[in-house]
Amino acid sequence: METTTTLSFKQHIKQGIPNELPPVKEYETTINHAPKRKEILSDEEKRLALQNALRYFKPEQHEILAKEFLAELNDYGRIYMYRFRPDYEMKSRPIKEYPGKCKQAKAIMLMIQNNLDYAVAQHPHELITYGGNGGVFSNWAQYLLTMKYLSEMTDKQTLVMYSGHPMGLFPSHKDAPRVVVTNGMMIPNYSQPDDWEKFNALGVTQYGQMTAGSYMYIGPQGIVHGTTITVLNGFRKIGKEPKGNLFVTSGLGGMSGAQPKAGNIAGCVTVCAEVNPKITQVRLDQGWIDEKITDLDELVARVNQAKENKETVSLAYLGNIVDVWEKFDQENVHIDLGSDQTSLHNPWAGGYYPADISFEDANDMMANEPGLFKEKVQETLRRHAKAINQHTAKGTYFFDYGNAFLLEASRAGADVMSDNPTIGREFKYPSYVQDIMGPMCFDYGFGPFRWVCASGKPEDLAKTDAIACKVLEKLKKESPEEIQQQMTDNIQWIKGAQENKLVVGSQARILYADAEGRMKIAKAFNKAIKKGKIGTVVLGRDHHDVSGTDSPYRETSNIYDGSRFTADMAIHNVIGDSFRGATWVSIHNGGGVGWGEVVNGGFGMVLDGSKDAGRRLESMLFWDVNNGIARRNWARNEGAIFAIERAMKSEPSLKVTVPNLVNNDLLANL
Ligand SMILES: NC(=O)c1ccc[n+]([C@@H]2O[C@H](COP(=O)([O-])OP(=O)(O)OC[C@H]3O[C@@H](n4cnc5c(N)ncnc54)[C@H](O)[C@@H]3O)[C@@H](O)[C@H]2O)c1
Repeated sequence: METTTTLSFKQHIKQGIPNELPPVKEYETTINHAPKRKEILSDEEKRLALQNALRYFKPEQHEILAKEFLAELNDYGRIYMYRFRPDYEMKSRPIKEYPGKCKQAKAIMLMIQNNLDYAVAQHPHELITYGGNGGVFSNWAQYLLTMKYLSEMTDKQTLVMYSGHPMGLFPSHKDAPRVVVTNGMMIPNYSQPDDWEKFNALGVTQYGQMTAGSYMYIGPQGIVHGTTITVLNGFRKIGKEPKGNLFVTSGLGGMSGAQPKAGNIAGCVTVCAEVNPKITQVRLDQGWIDEKITDLDELVARVNQAKENKETVSLAYLGNIVDVWEKFDQENVHIDLGSDQTSLHNPWAGGYYPADISFEDANDMMANEPGLFKEKVQETLRRHAKAINQHTAKGTYFFDYGNAFLLEASRAGADVMSDNPTIGREFKYPSYVQDIMGPMCFDYGFGPFRWVCASGKPEDLAKTDAIACKVLEKLKKESPEEIQQQMTDNIQWIKGAQENKLVVGSQARILYADAEGRMKIAKAFNKAIKKGKIGTVVLGRDHHDVSGTDSPYRETSNIYDGSRFTADMAIHNVIGDSFRGATWVSIHNGGGVGWGEVVNGGFGMVLDGSKDAGRRLESMLFWDVNNGIARRNWARNEGAIFAIERAMKSEPSLKVTVPNLVNNDLLANL
């Protein structure tokens, strides 16, 4: 019998949870770790959490592990089982390096490892990919067991994943998904934030975010692309060219850090304020911002110069965003497009910093005088909103970036409520989905389609870029006026993608396409695989898409028939994908906006050049987009009515119920 240290990568995977206890691992301080979670379990519940964790191990190991796991629970608030973290490098490998009997399962292993890659994952040792709590698994035993099952499965079995826990392999058939994932599915009454804390600590559920728990995260590329599309369409919304015009926002963090890069791709002048000097320096070193400015007068002068010279430039202001809005108001610097991406979903614990207090002092106040900190945050929010209002009165277009800015500002008593509120339009300003992404993209079926070249070869990615570009250029010639702009933007994006060096982790690409675009690109890939021009390709998408997500303040915020608080669309979507040929499907509670606030789902689909893959991609991709368009059409969204009628013409077996529109004057007079 070989010892664990001499096993090859394949043998490690096939071994699963090792028979002998591996040595204890040191807690590595150089790695970015998840914060200590709050103490939530009673002593009795802690014993239950231990019992739950020990289920994965032989009884003779329980004595040692029980003590160790209790220490983890007390020290970190969770049982991660650090000792079982594998020694091999955590990264996606070329598909041929994975053990197993089934190509689809090997592709899923590749995607799982990519989500845990140190260059990709936020807290790799805690199995968190992004968003602070977006877990792929809750502990290392789940990872080891899942990889083992995947290495054993045939294409007549399905692996069932209950919130990170591999329940097992069940007999199915070759057209069934190889993996079905649920994350955080709760009885609705048990979906408060503390329920996540408690049931996650007990080891019976996890927060999957969107693409973390569904093995579909592709690093920062997705957010750069989405932000670019938002900035471009934001300028269109106001009828201006990005060139020589100003975009003001804040935050250089996980997602917000994409704003200056996106501003540069769009071609405008971007000012992005950030209070944290470390993060600002990281973004400067990374090349995601061009210049760092610490003085407001200097900032005003530099912005005026950049506007006059029509420069494409991103300027980071190291300081509070409120000071920028106020200073630009005093100095009459016209802001064309304005937003905010501080972390206001988390306002009292570092998501939003108050003005007139240094970063260090604010951190002290947060820990030592939380009541005063809250007061200062709310005072700043009132100032922030007031300054924005001054600008919008002078013509600035401001939108909420899905970060709860308007919600928290309203709670702080800021002047952000609409003078003429209507259902779904309660605030003075729209959210980015209400005005931009929803009506301009999602209603027409355009959303974040993505793929990964499982060979791991950059040449394959370059070839797929060229194939996708050719398909889109051909489609554009036949496209109606309504979607010409989307086609142009994405052709431009894919042409610049190689140059923009967006790959981190697996060889992945994202672009926005509608159902027809996604299907034609996928078909062309499958053909190229069959001819041996490229290797296996994994298709997928972000959950933040046309049909995948029901979220009343984000993805479905431009649904005004009252149904934005329902989740039928997301549930139908995952069910429909699963019997139309997806290789894996997932459905999650939470993601982006919080536990209990959203239901979101996604899929992965392996293309291997076969006829079966060709059949599945047509059937599933058509449904995966048109389900959401049908729902948006029924909500009376103009673009979606247009798009579903077009889809019905292209596919006669599609018959969707189309709404009759009522003359509002008739109702007003009742
Ligand atoms: N980008 C998107 O498409 C998108 C979509 C939906 C929601 N969001 C939301 O955007 C928010 C930001 O996400 P993130 O991952 O970047 O978070 P993050 O916490 O990593 O970054 C936010 C940054 O804002 C800075 N900041 C806080 N208060 C500030 C102030 N007053 N002035 C200047 N800087 C300040 C913080 O120091 C931090 O670096 C979240 O609430 C997220 O849910 C983003």
